[in-house]
Amino acid sequence: GGLTRFANHPMPDFTVADLRAAFPRALAEVRADFGRTIPLVIGGKEILTADRLASVNPADPDEVVAQVCQAGTAEIDQAVAAAKAAFAGWRDAAPETRAAVLIKAAAIARERIVALSALQVLEVGKQWDQAYADVAEAIDFLEYYAREMVRLGAPRRMGNQPGEQNRLFYEPKGPVAVIAPWNFPLAIACGMSAAAVVVGNCVVFKPSGLASAVGYGLCGIFREAGLPDGVFNFCPGRGSVMGDHLVEHPDITMIAFTGSMDVGLRIMEKASRVVPGQAYCKRVVAEMGGKNAIIIDDDADLDEAVSSVLYSAFGFQGQKCSACSRVIVLEPIYEKFTARLKEAAESVKIGPSEDPANFMGPVVDASQQKTVATYADIARAEGRILVERLCAGKGFYAPMVIVEGIKPEHRLAQEEVFGPILAVMKAKTFDEAIDIANSTRFALTGGVFSRSPKNLESAKKRFRVGNLYINRNITGALVERQPFGGAKMSGVGSKAGGPDYLLQFMDPRVVTENT
Ligand code: NAD
Ligand code: ALA
Repeated sequence: GGLTRFANHPMPDFTVADLRAAFPRALAEVRADFGRTIPLVIGGKEILTADRLASVNPADPDEVVAQVCQAGTAEIDQAVAAAKAAFAGWRDAAPETRAAVLIKAAAIARERIVALSALQVLEVGKQWDQAYADVAEAIDFLEYYAREMVRLGAPRRMGNQPGEQNRLFYEPKGPVAVIAPWNFPLAIACGMSAAAVVVGNCVVFKPSGLASAVGYGLCGIFREAGLPDGVFNFCPGRGSVMGDHLVEHPDITMIAFTGSMDVGLRIMEKASRVVPGQAYCKRVVAEMGGKNAIIIDDDADLDEAVSSVLYSAFGFQGQKCSACSRVIVLEPIYEKFTARLKEAAESVKIGPSEDPANFMGPVVDASQQKTVATYADIARAEGRILVERLCAGKGFYAPMVIVEGIKPEHRLAQEEVFGPILAVMKAKTFDEAIDIANSTRFALTGGVFSRSPKNLESAKKRFRVGNLYINRNITGALVERQPFGGAKMSGVGSKAGGPDYLLQFMDPRVVTENT
């Protein structure tokens, strides 16, 4: 039978007692499994390596979630060879067959959603609702890209010249490297991987070292869903040891990357240099950082604006590429807005994410903690601190900081912190607010709170970001409803969860026949 129309997986409803009770149970189950060893999976075989990296609970680094085997360059060679060997068979499988594997994977993830969420809570410090939303997004990618493959799998007839038949169709490229970040540990890894495999490519998947247990969960889902051996190879490893080697490998045809601008630019540079034995121009799809702004117009609904800015800036500790890190406030409403924002920020609880009472938790590791502390110092030097809150816990807690007096030329207005630091900026007019909003290298998300039709129209035209949100929060794009991704230094490639995404993983062909 055909597939039903795509629908997003529903958000969690914690008023349902069963779901509320399921979380602590699932957290206990993850804990019971702490310290396990996670192997590589290459060509369907589990491989143990001597180099291990501990993945720890950010709220209590003494808790080792897993000891993860690390791939070196030799394992990467093996994995690319396995991908290459599996390619012809998988390429020639019918699109519907490949799509069916994704649908099966979605069903497995749906069944396991609370367990998969609990693992994120303990491995990266996500709040319950946000971890659940991440797994839901992974399910959506699987369901959506399966349907997209069926749509794109049918050859298209081109032109209408008598005596000639032209057919346009798409083919996969070959072995693809998927390099993922830790912050949407299942959704982003799953989205990039699902897109690559559903079109017929084979994947060497490198999860982040901070989220490899979640990455292994994805590997398990694909295996159980029946993906043939070698189509998806699980290769956690240190970027500094095997990252360049993977990108530069002559048999890699494409790199799908999501992460920081620095690493993304490095990958583009390495991928552009042809190495001996290489037969393919490598394509890089890179989703990178942001310095996202929300504009508060002088007639904004402050109830909505304050809570949305708070959530957009500090949800998951600000560790989202989509997070709000600048709020640009029109002068007439400045005092009122900042007073209310300060009050709201001071009222939320900070502590371990596994306690749902806490709005904000620890950042992911000691290095992120240090980065945030450094930017908190810069905030003190460049502006005036409006709010600074620290949770004195055992985990990797970083201060929640709101700083005012920030000008477009300040580092806090230009550099991605990727943590809970929000810069408040003042604008005299709405036009000036848009100019400030546009005055960074990034163009990922943005938001406007306004009731003025004229200003909203102007924002739609002139506020140049990949995803603009009006009168709502600016994180949490949904597959199909808000295809996601940016321009400028925020990335190259078309939007994840949108109708152009799969095309990037394929090459178009045309066959012309004289009839
Ligand atoms: P990161 O760039 O540090 O790491 C991303 C991945 O690249 C990791 O798996 C890492 O091990 C790997 N890597 C590191 N060095 C490498 C190398 N030389 N060659 C190949 N791979 C290498 O990013 P992160 O800390 O995991 O994630 C945070 C960043 O990701 C932020 O900048 C954030 O804005 C961005 N991000 C963007 C999006 C988006 O859709 N635009 C989504 C999520 C995160
Ligand atoms: N897609 C994620 C969001 O919109 C990054 O927040």
